[in-house]
Amino acid sequence: MDSKIKDLNKKLTLAHLGGGQVRIDKQHEKKKLTARERVTYLLDDGSFEEIGALVTHRTKDFGMENQQFYGDGVVTGYGTISGRLIYVFAQDFTVFGGSLSETHAEKICKVMDLAVKVGAPIIGLNDSGGARIQEGVRSLGGYADIFYKNVQASGVIPQISAIMGPCAGGAVYSPAMTDFTLMVENTSYMFVTGPNVVKTVTNETVTSEELGGASTHSTKSGVTHITSANDIECLEDVKKLMSYLPQNNTEKTKALPFELKEETREVLANIIPDNANKPYDMHSVINGIIDEDSFYEIHKNFAENIVVGFARLGGKSIGIVANQPLYLAGVLDVDSSTKAARFVRFCDCFNIPLLVLEDVPGFLPGTDQEWNAIITNGAKLLYAFSEATVPRITVITRKAYGGAYDVMNSKHIGADMNYAWPSAEIAVMGAKGAAEIIFKKEISAAEDSDGKWKEKEAEYAALFANPYSAAERGFIDEVILPQDTRRKLIKAFAMLEDKQIETPKRKHGNIPL
Ligand code: HXC
Repeated sequence: MDSKIKDLNKKLTLAHLGGGQVRIDKQHEKKKLTARERVTYLLDDGSFEEIGALVTHRTKDFGMENQQFYGDGVVTGYGTISGRLIYVFAQDFTVFGGSLSETHAEKICKVMDLAVKVGAPIIGLNDSGGARIQEGVRSLGGYADIFYKNVQASGVIPQISAIMGPCAGGAVYSPAMTDFTLMVENTSYMFVTGPNVVKTVTNETVTSEELGGASTHSTKSGVTHITSANDIECLEDVKKLMSYLPQNNTEKTKALPFELKEETREVLANIIPDNANKPYDMHSVINGIIDEDSFYEIHKNFAENIVVGFARLGGKSIGIVANQPLYLAGVLDVDSSTKAARFVRFCDCFNIPLLVLEDVPGFLPGTDQEWNAIITNGAKLLYAFSEATVPRITVITRKAYGGAYDVMNSKHIGADMNYAWPSAEIAVMGAKGAAEIIFKKEISAAEDSDGKWKEKEAEYAALFANPYSAAERGFIDEVILPQDTRRKLIKAFAMLEDKQIETPKRKHGNIPL
């Protein structure tokens, strides 16, 4: 038995060394942790249980039978984060550059299958040179197996991808189909084709970082939701994100202990400027409402005219979608619509109630928007809200103009409670533009046309630049004082806790893609 135990220990020691110390040192030189170090940091101390440490590849071509590394370039298994069960895979760049072989893919699929069967989140730590070139189509098949399982698991368990090194070619499509993608600045990149292919095909000269680095994907494409300065920060971000999510689509996120006090938040009363055209930072409204320091923003640097993220309100996890007057006056455009729609759908999948804070002057006009399908993309947000069955509450802080009023979780598309502050203006458009259109003849016939315009603007504003016309019809349930908003929302979400909606039987809806 002794020699057998020694034999096992020898194999496990080799498995733990991955591609060997020289390659581990190289990984460290690049300021990257190894796959095992990442898993250890991510999970609770001592909680990791490995699956498939002794798996090896089956390739004989290109002399591969003489190049065997236990684990075959990916560390897989399960453990806990803050005591909650999590499945994990971490690609090991020290073994064939973390490239994906048939067996490497099988290991990932095995933990994905377990995660779905048990109903626990799966976290992928990606660091890979892509398809194992020596394996040809077997590797491509492995990728496709993972893609298929990503889709089967979508909306059933949370799936999180951290990109902590290269991620190229079709490999990017598994992260793209998971719920959240995080990237580490300067050491990770994602692209379908790299700079060399780009140069050949389009004659563009571009670096990997420019083409698909963390900053590119967090600001320009929106492919990544969160960027982190280094590996440790990225793993901390994964843990933080997890704290707002439930284990699966049949559960709610566990609430933190909370006792409702009759508190008011005076800070909220002084945020809206007297001049309706002056911007203010919607973050101050968010922070004034939620539990202290609990906002975790998603897609922070992308489509900044809308703010989305998780927070705790009265100890409970909620999703927030808020127009941002500080950026493009909070207008809805292609990017902000798709950003918010995806977030709304995630929250709805995983039973996370939605709070909408609204100050929106409408949709952004122009050829750029029309030609980039603002119609289809705006419809995504409208569709996402309309289909969401989680508790949904809206607070209109200032403008709710035009189609954007309907889209931003209005009563008409199924919101449960709609509040407005006294500063709310709920109308088809701003008073100035409205007066110009409906009183065009009177304005141009008047001797003092500017004066007439102002007079008609004031007339329209008196009628619609307030929340009362909407409140009279019940489109707004209550006009509330800003300082009471937190208390009102905590009580309303508690009232909606057991909300249930029966939807008609169908295969799936057809969201405008
Ligand atoms: C096999 C690979 C590999 C791969 C890297 N390696 N990529 N082995 N298949 N795809 C190996 C290298 O041979 C090397 O082995 C080790 O990993 C580290 O690689 P280096 O090149 O030394 O590292 P570095 O300089 O950091 O460059 C990393 C890299 C580069 C940028 C990822 O290796 C690279 O360009 N690799 C090829 C990328 C690629 O074209 N992949 C296919 C994409 S297409 P040793 O023994 O020296 O340690 C694709 C299709 C998927 O993925 C389709 C799905 C639908």
